Amino acid sequence: MTDTVLVERDGRIAVVIVNRPDKLNALDHDTIQALRDAIVSLSADADVGAIILTGSGEKAFIAGADIGGLSKQGVLDGKANAQHGQALTLAMEACPKPVLAAIQGWALGGGLEMALACDMRFASTKARLGLPEVSLGIIPGYGGTQRLPRLVGAGKALELILTGDPVPADEALRIGLVNGVFEPEALLAGVRAVAEKILSRGPTAVALAKQAVRRGVHLPLAEGLELEADLFGMISSTAEMKEGMQAFLEKRKPDWS
Ligand code: COA
Repeated sequence: MTDTVLVERDGRIAVVIVNRPDKLNALDHDTIQALRDAIVSLSADADVGAIILTGSGEKAFIAGADIGGLSKQGVLDGKANAQHGQALTLAMEACPKPVLAAIQGWALGGGLEMALACDMRFASTKARLGLPEVSLGIIPGYGGTQRLPRLVGAGKALELILTGDPVPADEALRIGLVNGVFEPEALLAGVRAVAEKILSRGPTAVALAKQAVRRGVHLPLAEGLELEADLFGMISSTAEMKEGMQAFLEKRKPDWS
């Protein structure tokens, strides 16, 4: 049996590839589990500093949850299926390293929901992104109804969710759904360059900054500021902070090792 999730290492970057190209990388139950296992394992791997999530082949990032599997669900396993996918999205958000989506083609339904849980999204000019669930008589279940409005605002999110129509890459960029757009052949290199830039920064600072944003968006402002101050205090105790500032004063590049 072919592995439905592949992990390729390139220095400190891990590229996680959903590998069901004949099904446009649709996510069945086992693939979701394999993706979650990969994210949890890479989260704990000290040799990995950043993760790129992408799909196999040129046509699709991920064309959604596997409709064959979903078509058989009832009330109880329907809820469990949603929670199974949500657990993967939560693992990506909790990962202390940046997780970047490289979206080369279709990012639909559960596929867009995986991208929404990434820290940044980059698309090829050929990508199309949408939440078509209502056309199948269901609603998004892996966080789409919650994360999309937080990213693009309730009005635009409702337009995408209620019409089910996908948007092309340029429109996705305009509404803030993706961070950048590349020509198809330049997509992976472009996303790697962003990851490399992040890797050149203080690694603990990157992890704590991600944590401050990820946890802070769910908090009232006063509690978010408290969290930020706590994490700021924590980073102030590190050798990393001393090295970062010393390097600036000595007009040299910091050595994070
Ligand atoms: N679940 C299961 N299989 C899927 C799938 C999904 N979400 N998306 C695509 N596939 C399968 C197709 O059934 C087809 O399999 P087959 O060759 O065994 O028949 C294969 O992937 C290729 O897809 P196909 O529809 O032939 O490609 P296309 O280029 O004509 O159309 C899409 C591409 C993305 C527009 C179309 O596949 C589609 O609408 N997919 C469903 C998207 C969706 O609703 N996702 C949300 C699910 S909750």
